[in-house]
Amino acid sequence: MNYNPKDPYFQRAKQEGYRARSVYKLEAIQERFKVLKTGDRVLDLGAAPGSFLQYISRAIGEDGFVVGVDLQEITPLKEENIYTLVADVTDEVVLEKKLEEIGADFFDVITSDMAPATTGIKFVDGGRSMELNQEVLNIAEKYLRIGGNVVLKLLPGVNEGVLMKRMKLFFKTVRHFRPTAVRQTSGEFYLVGMGRFLSPKT
Ligand SMILES: C[S@@+](CC[C@H](N)C(=O)[O-])C[C@H]1O[C@@H](n2cnc3c(N)ncnc32)[C@H](O)[C@@H]1O
Repeated sequence: MNYNPKDPYFQRAKQEGYRARSVYKLEAIQERFKVLKTGDRVLDLGAAPGSFLQYISRAIGEDGFVVGVDLQEITPLKEENIYTLVADVTDEVVLEKKLEEIGADFFDVITSDMAPATTGIKFVDGGRSMELNQEVLNIAEKYLRIGGNVVLKLLPGVNEGVLMKRMKLFFKTVRHFRPTAVRQTSGEFYLVGMGRFLSPKT
């Protein structure tokens, strides 16, 4: 984690032993929506360096487990309920094979903090973020249990309405949320879908 002494969230993450300040975005989502509970099986997409994994591990306890997936190798974490995989989530065949290898066939919660490599051009970055989020929803349709929850990160330039519309087809409640830990200069925000029901597709 790059330590920035002027940023209180960096300081707090360092003091509390978290690998990234992003953890406080998930913490705020959990405090507001209670998406995670003890014993949950969780899939965390775009998980490196691992602060969401650290937080989720504590929230679900030893009866649950969390699988973190990223393009990059995640430096091993000490918690026994954390598993990590290197995969590109847009390659559904590889992801499916790797999840099968560890015996993970459904999840109670799917979180995605994925961010594409950005160009600074809003419509390009937004388009890439859109593709990643559509992929997260494909994965959710396949692996999320009925009643389960999903958390998506959106970059500026994403067509939020399109994602919302799709989510409303298979979640009881869909909420837009911008945690206070999101940097003021960043236009990112999250969509939280709660209470999955059978979608017209399944
Ligand atoms: C903001 S970081 C995630 C931080 C993480 N939530 C944490 O708390 O430590 C975004 C991550 O998304 C990953 N990512 C972007 N595109 C991806 C893809 N197609 N498949 C898997 N991971 C991806 C990046 O490699 C990067 O590590």
